[in-house]
Amino acid sequence: MQTSHTSWRSTLVSKMALLLSLLYTLCLVGQVLGQDMPHEEYIAQIQACPKECRCPTNFPRAVYCDNKGLKSIPKIPPHTWYLYLQNNLIEVLSADALRNATQLRWLNLNRNKITSEGVEEGVLSSMSHLAHIYMDDNLLSSVPSPLPASLEYLRLSRNRISKIPTGVFIGLDKLNLLDLQANKLMDDAVTEVSLKGLNNLVQINLAKNQLNSMPNGLPPTTTQLFLDGNNIEKIPAGYFKGLPKVAFLRLNNNKLDSSGVPRNVFNVSSILDLQLSHNQLTEVPFIPSGLEHLHLDHNNIKSVSGANVCPVAVETVDDSIDESVPRLRYLRLDGNDIKPPIPRDVILCFRLLRSIVI
Ligand SMILES: *[C@@H]1O[C@H](CO)[C@@H](O)[C@H](O)[C@H]1NC(C)=O
Ligand SMILES: *[C@@H]1O[C@H](CO)[C@@H](O)[C@H](O)[C@H]1NC(C)=O
Repeated sequence: MQTSHTSWRSTLVSKMALLLSLLYTLCLVGQVLGQDMPHEEYIAQIQACPKECRCPTNFPRAVYCDNKGLKSIPKIPPHTWYLYLQNNLIEVLSADALRNATQLRWLNLNRNKITSEGVEEGVLSSMSHLAHIYMDDNLLSSVPSPLPASLEYLRLSRNRISKIPTGVFIGLDKLNLLDLQANKLMDDAVTEVSLKGLNNLVQINLAKNQLNSMPNGLPPTTTQLFLDGNNIEKIPAGYFKGLPKVAFLRLNNNKLDSSGVPRNVFNVSSILDLQLSHNQLTEVPFIPSGLEHLHLDHNNIKSVSGANVCPVAVETVDDSIDESVPRLRYLRLDGNDIKPPIPRDVILCFRLLRSIVI
């Protein structure tokens, strides 16, 4: 009797000890996470937390004010690095509310009601560490300006942007990604002058705008270029000579026909993924040797022959798989007028092809 009672008690005690040590560990973790800032700053930060927001004690550089139905930005505490304001009804990007938030790294304003008039003078450029701006799904009519030189990612999709202020990107040497998808940009807005300064841009998304021609002035560092869903009819000969790093190129849902696409315009050695679905092409363009994925579905192509599309003379491709073998692995040709089977010389040419949709 006595023995079993003792053992029951000792089990309970050991369970409580485990629980306590677990709690202690959690507190320690909390303290460790909070320790990337001096204690006084930590206290100031937590005390200045706006009542509308949540400031986690174990992650004191973050302020969460998302999904609160806010109509304006509350006063943001001074040591904030990560600010979440998405899914509100904010109309004004207020310089006053953000006056002390000069340390911001990350600003999420997606799905609000901010207009270009609502972006107050100098509010973004005073944040000299700001690397990420998310302003998707707002009511902007122009790219906000001026922007801080620290900026790396600028997301502005699904606004009403029709203007890029002259020189807005000058000095933005760290800008890597520019997302302007689903706006109202026309040819005259996207020019060498308006894009000047994008010296390290890697990805630009101009899909779903109102472009009638290929944009001018894209920087030679561009690797990913997305232009789907515009009204582009032709590509000037040699267009990609100015883009020697382009690897992912999307031109789906445009108005390209074969008379507007010089046969060897895509002969760029950097290109890996080329998407030309839902256009009006009647011929397969020249396929460069290094291309791995090609989407040509939903065009008006009637035939495909190895003699026309193989980047090397078919007879020189021998049985061995070496450097000279074209890299194409995936080919979509469905939604055209091509009758199967795929000609033998196409198969012989692209011997790394894993999947072909016809
Ligand atoms: C900025 O910080 C100062 C000093 O701590 C404080 O008095 C002021 O209310 C703060 N302003 C805003 C807008 O947060
Ligand atoms: C493609 O480019 C390569 C290298 O720049 C060149 O040797 C070749 O002749 C070009 N082919 C066509 C069809 O333009």
